[in-house]
Amino acid sequence: MSSKASVENPLFHPLLFLYSLLQWLTDKLLSPKAPRSDAKLHRPSIAVIGAGITGVTSAAHCVGHGFDTVIFESGSEDQVGGIWTRVNDTSGLQIHSLMYRFHPSIQWKRGYPSRQEIVSQVQQLWQRYGLQERTRFNTNVNKVYQENGKWVVNDPSLGTFDGVIVAIGTCGAPKMPTMQGMETFQGEVYHSSELTGKDAKDKKIAIIGGGASAVEALEFAASAEAAKTTILSRSDKWIIPRNIAVDTLLSYNIFGQETKLSIFPEFLLRKLFYRDMEDIAPVDKGLFTDTPMVNSDVMDKLREGKAEWVRCDIEEFTDRGIVVNRRAKGVPKGGPGHQEVIEADIVVMATGFKRPALSFLPDDCFEDPYQPPNWYLQTFPPKHPSISAINCTYLSAIGTVGNWHIGIYTRILLMFLVDPLTRPRSIWMERWINMTNFLKMSSPTGAFDFFTYLELVWWFVFCVAINPFRWKWALFVFFGVGFALPNAVVAEEEPIVGGKNGAKDDAFSF
Ligand SMILES: Cc1cc2nc3c(=O)[nH]c(=O)nc-3n(C[C@H](O)[C@H](O)[C@H](O)COP(=O)(O)OP(=O)(O)OC[C@H]3O[C@@H](n4cnc5c(N)ncnc54)[C@H](O)[C@@H]3O)c2cc1C
Ligand SMILES: NC(=O)c1ccc[n+]([C@@H]2O[C@H](COP(=O)([O-])OP(=O)(O)OC[C@H]3O[C@@H](n4cnc5c(N)ncnc54)[C@H](OP(=O)(O)O)[C@@H]3O)[C@@H](O)[C@H]2O)c1
Repeated sequence: MSSKASVENPLFHPLLFLYSLLQWLTDKLLSPKAPRSDAKLHRPSIAVIGAGITGVTSAAHCVGHGFDTVIFESGSEDQVGGIWTRVNDTSGLQIHSLMYRFHPSIQWKRGYPSRQEIVSQVQQLWQRYGLQERTRFNTNVNKVYQENGKWVVNDPSLGTFDGVIVAIGTCGAPKMPTMQGMETFQGEVYHSSELTGKDAKDKKIAIIGGGASAVEALEFAASAEAAKTTILSRSDKWIIPRNIAVDTLLSYNIFGQETKLSIFPEFLLRKLFYRDMEDIAPVDKGLFTDTPMVNSDVMDKLREGKAEWVRCDIEEFTDRGIVVNRRAKGVPKGGPGHQEVIEADIVVMATGFKRPALSFLPDDCFEDPYQPPNWYLQTFPPKHPSISAINCTYLSAIGTVGNWHIGIYTRILLMFLVDPLTRPRSIWMERWINMTNFLKMSSPTGAFDFFTYLELVWWFVFCVAINPFRWKWALFVFFGVGFALPNAVVAEEEPIVGGKNGAKDDAFSF
């Protein structure tokens, strides 16, 4: 499916038809049934913090499997969809939507959905699973603690819970660093997420930043018919093509890190994708060390000459533009270069977003050396297997945030909650973290600072395979089906483990 696949009627387009069929099938086979509006959910209670893609999806899985769930969201109702409700109308998925199926019931209409379609799918999911009744808006979570074995979120008046899913994302408020001379600049300054409706026709645009938002701002500038756009990038990042085959292959690096073999994909990208633009490909860091940007158009825009990529440090703003220290390839940030003035009518600060803090969690979640992202499966703090912080502890990866792994993480938590014999002891969670650190000791980044999708699959398979009491849950954990059978076995095991909640003998719990 091409990046311009915005076709309305799938019957006229064979690939889109097949894609729709696949989505319909996965929905029928794998979506848990939404509970009736008057249904009382009797299974353990779950607090979900955040109503973005991750929070809504995990809550939909929880209620679909009969777990009594409440979502706490600091924003108002129009923020169901999280960060996607707060970015430009021109934003959209850079990766193919096949890799962004955050719930089996999601039905994408195109290969690369727009921001509006993404938000609409999250809101439909939220309604389909009756989560309106279960969401507490304008509730900023600032404290999560245990009282009598139950989790309290902020205050006992908001309920008590058996498990907690933290889904606060990684993109909070826009980051707007103050720079010298900014107040003297006569043009307009916007954050990269505030470009909707801005008039840039025939204007010169300077974009500060060299990440995915900078590339998106470049697309905005092109569609707004800006006269000239200059990207002022402090450090080089890898860009990979918007191609489902290439992106999938790269995420299949089982080592989850840079290895000697990485020179092959890096060489191919330089020769076949960057080609004459090789100058902007990083020389100081490998492909498997940081989240790459996914975009095929950026090279063409640079080749057309309407945009320029400048490797530089920002010195100061002037009334008409920005003074930069332009550096040659390979010279690191802050290194020697030469001064240049970049003229601009509009400056776009593509300088990222502040990271929402996890500090509301208990202090023992942050004990050295088991601080996030160095947690069990990256999401479970070793002291608390009843907490899963999904999609908000990672630093960088080749993969995607909105995919089936949200369901798997959620179901692992549900398994831990209902089956004491599957619940890992802290010591075993720490050992798994130590083992991963050991396996990735040759990585140029920390073991958990970068991972790939295939590595994630390995983590999940290992987690289920290592403990025989988890085997009966495999179908449920991986596909969300067959809850009844393992749950019936758990009922039989109850006398052995000493009641519903505690394992008398947790020697097996690794
Ligand atoms: C412009 C843009 C484009 C992107 N494109 C892609 C892409 O193509 N592919 C991809 O994989 N990722 C992309 N991302 C990353 C994006 O963050 C994820 O795709 C996804 O939206 C994250 O969802 P989330 O639910 O985990 O977090 P969010 O969407 O950030 O939602 C978190 C929610 O938690 C709430 N919250 C935070 N703290 C608290 C608290 N203390 N108490 C209560 N509520 C709280 C927030 O208000 C928010 O609603 C993009 C990000 C941006 C900014
Ligand atoms: N559709 C998409 O795929 C898409 C689009 C947008 C955003 N996103 C996601 O959203 C998240 C945020 O992306 P982002 O691009 O907004 O932020 P980002 O990845 O954090 O990049 C910020 C950029 O701004 C630079 N910067 C920050 N402060 C600076 C300063 N004081 N002076 C000069 N440069 C400065 C950084 O340089 P250094 O690297 O040197 O610090 C970096 O190049 C990422 O997870 C990204 O993948 C995805």
